[in-house]
Amino acid sequence: MQVVILKDAAEVAAYGADIFTTQLKRKANSVLGLATGSTPVALYQELIKRNQANEISFAEVTSFNLDEYLGLDGSHPQSYRYFMQQQLFDHIDIKKNNTHVPPGDAKNPITACGEYEARIKAAGGIDVQLLGIGRNGHIGFNEPSSGLTSRTRVKTLTKATIDDNARFFKADEYQPHLSITMGIGTILDANKVVLLATGENKAEAVAAMVEGPLTAACPASALQLHRDAVIVIDEAAASKLKDIEFYKHIENENQKLLDYLASL
Ligand code: PGA
Repeated sequence: MQVVILKDAAEVAAYGADIFTTQLKRKANSVLGLATGSTPVALYQELIKRNQANEISFAEVTSFNLDEYLGLDGSHPQSYRYFMQQQLFDHIDIKKNNTHVPPGDAKNPITACGEYEARIKAAGGIDVQLLGIGRNGHIGFNEPSSGLTSRTRVKTLTKATIDDNARFFKADEYQPHLSITMGIGTILDANKVVLLATGENKAEAVAAMVEGPLTAACPASALQLHRDAVIVIDEAAASKLKDIEFYKHIENENQKLLDYLASL
């Protein structure tokens, strides 16, 4: 795991946007794994800016989102399809047909999960997968106790997640308790994963993910198995890590190596 500790949420968003920019410049027809939630919004704003300035293009990109509420169709304002349209897709040159979000309105949600996996495979697999982390250590809607090799499936949300996401729903609005989510195995298949976390309320989950044991009790700890996982966090989200100075030291050394390689 590469642990990158930055000053604040703005730096985290810019660092994340740089990773996607580099990827798109290297491979115009990249397959991107995308995420919802509050954390990626600033990164998406940065990508929109760079797209509108013609620095990067999404014209050949295919995208797959991590998860969706079961029972909401894409026109529902709380659906993750709606979120993606509002926060990113409607503002960039991506082709809507190339964007995929698990179908929350699937007639048969079980077969829809297998179809989602097949679409990812047919696209050639995910090049870079963006992730957030829940306070309970979830990635996507893979809640604690999720199988570490799980695939896309229907998952029940924990009370903690339902409570955390209640802020997006009106008091009298139906809030789903079920989801379709990529599995942890699906996420681990991505060539690269980039997890962003900011704020003090993520500090415990971040410490469990990076320094805790590999355990289904903290689904994000599965990223310890990934060959190219970049954890980009601000000082507040890093505050419960034991080895902060070591991670910063590694980043300094990495930078020196990159500078040397660039000078060759
Ligand atoms: P947040 O959600 O970005 O809204 O904190 C992250 C997550 O639950 O994965």
